[in-house]
Amino acid sequence: MGQTLPGFREFYPEDCITRNFIFQIFRQTIHRFGFEEFDGPLLEPLELFTAKSGDEIVSQLFCFIDRGGREVALRPELTPTLTRMVVTRLATLKRPIRWFNIGEHFRYERPQKGRLRSFYQMNVDILCETSIRCDGELIFILIQLLQAFGLTADDFSLRISDRHLWVLFLEQFAMDGSQISQILTAIDRFEEGNEEIFERKISKIAPDCGNRLCDEILQLRQCKDLHSLKRFFPNPREGERIAQWETLFRLFDAMQLNDYVAIDFGIVRGLAYYTGFVFEAYERHGQSRALAGGGRYDNLAEKLYGTPMAACGFAIGDVTLENLLRARHLIPGPKPSIQIFAIFDSATEMEALAICAKLRQRNIATIYDFSDGTSFAKQLKRAGKSGACFALFIGTTEVKTGQFFLKNLLTGEGESLSLDEILNRFSASGCLAK
Ligand code: HAM
Repeated sequence: MGQTLPGFREFYPEDCITRNFIFQIFRQTIHRFGFEEFDGPLLEPLELFTAKSGDEIVSQLFCFIDRGGREVALRPELTPTLTRMVVTRLATLKRPIRWFNIGEHFRYERPQKGRLRSFYQMNVDILCETSIRCDGELIFILIQLLQAFGLTADDFSLRISDRHLWVLFLEQFAMDGSQISQILTAIDRFEEGNEEIFERKISKIAPDCGNRLCDEILQLRQCKDLHSLKRFFPNPREGERIAQWETLFRLFDAMQLNDYVAIDFGIVRGLAYYTGFVFEAYERHGQSRALAGGGRYDNLAEKLYGTPMAACGFAIGDVTLENLLRARHLIPGPKPSIQIFAIFDSATEMEALAICAKLRQRNIATIYDFSDGTSFAKQLKRAGKSGACFALFIGTTEVKTGQFFLKNLLTGEGESLSLDEILNRFSASGCLAK
């Protein structure tokens, strides 16, 4: 009873300040790109996620049967919900659809550094657009989001791969769809130094392909630039796709992203629905889990609802991001949220409460002591401890003269001012007076 469930967090006020800071930077940045916010339910029919997200997500679901006998699951991701929402109103939505969401998600993963069972994601998706400019734009947005926190190319990089090219490559080995997806899962789980285990897995999935398949997979994983990619795929069959890679890198040139992006065919993404370019952001030095991930998923709407719809997007999580920001000292200290601590006694209580009401009407955060009969000296002490910036004295003399002593609790300086002067000292937006 005394502890949270494993992998769930409590947010004390200082944690909420950090969370709000992260969400505020997310929102400020995404609005530059003309995105609209949307949201979906936290609880969904189980089949929404078992249908097409892939085995990994299915094994991590928080699911149960509700009182109406329905199989339900807490959302582990937002992409299937987004797909359903857009397909439902496809005829009336302005295209392309640029939507984002910031919300909580749940996965029954083994809690570890960077991975919890409840976490927040910002999802950013563009739907009904097939152009590579759209893939490029999303990668640009992800980089700008991370830069907006003060992170640079020294702190993170974006690894890009291509499910389409992987499939073209694997088709050469005469594999069926099920073998291809099993091989992609094996590639997703490949760990450097464990080549033998990987080879065994591959020969179990595709026993007819022999060692050549495994060798070539490992070679493709080594392609780290366009030049080696072109050399690996010299045939016209893949030529069109290679040309699209060149287009993507021209966009990166124009957007000055070259320091941030790297080709990495080790990335295939754990979710099963991706069809094209896929990418993940990582802390540049270090072993931490991905900061963000996404890609193109042009077939999901058709597979779920029979409606073809191009789609591309990513999600960035709060857990690994906050760890990185803390390590780089990029989380600002809390700003004072209380502006005025009003000090008064029972003789001036009515006038003081009326003044406090006026201050609050002007968006000036104001508090006072609740206990009766506390001396001015004690109230001033409490004001100092409260974190308020100013103490405002509303004693009998002040009420009589209409001049109130406003004391800066940081500097100790103070002056007598009329109520109007005090109200004018604070801007309409409630910023602190100088
Ligand atoms: P994902 O790679 O599963 O993609 O998750 C995206 C990000 O969410 C991860 O990079 C990570 O930061 C965070 N995340 C995932 N699982 C956890 C966890 N257990 N604890 C903490 N953070 C976690 C998706 O969810 C796709 N639906 C993204 C997408 C949107 N693709 C297209 N549009």
